[in-house]
Amino acid sequence: MSGDSGMTPFDEAFHASAERHERAFIVCVIVMMALLTVATMFYVVHDFGLVTTTQSFHSDPTAAEREVAAADTGRVVKTGPNSYAVHITGKAWRWTPGVIHVPEGAEVTFYVTSSDVLHGFEIQGTPVNLTAVPGVVGTVKYTFHRTGVFRIICNEYCGMVHHAMIGQVIVDARAAE
Ligand code: CUA
Repeated sequence: MSGDSGMTPFDEAFHASAERHERAFIVCVIVMMALLTVATMFYVVHDFGLVTTTQSFHSDPTAAEREVAAADTGRVVKTGPNSYAVHITGKAWRWTPGVIHVPEGAEVTFYVTSSDVLHGFEIQGTPVNLTAVPGVVGTVKYTFHRTGVFRIICNEYCGMVHHAMIGQVIVDARAAE
């Protein structure tokens, strides 16, 4: 690096200093990209939870009919002192039942299926998000800790009126006991 190259001591010192700065710059960029990656992953998991929270699926070719029958009665079945089961069927382009009432603080188990094509069952403001599959019943449990209206949206493109396939979970305040 010296002698034959004709660089003066000043040139050499300048060159060495520039190389140190370049290395520092590259290290900074790598560290910043690593931090950004970790921060993004943390944000997504921490804020939204794991995206698919389906706890189980079982295959049931006759499910659609039966679930529709159960859902048509609009029933929310009480399964314990503080737990409920809700049967929901997606069909282009509505959820049946379309409006579900559950009490605040109760553990609700959703049994979700479809009677035609794939639909995406997502309750906004919660990590509940599963795919409604014909012939398959997906199960997910969730406890609503605040009262209010939660929209059920369809997040799997299912045709023309996909965007309007909206239902509601209404969480009612517990009656004073
Ligand atoms: Cu149902 Cu999109």
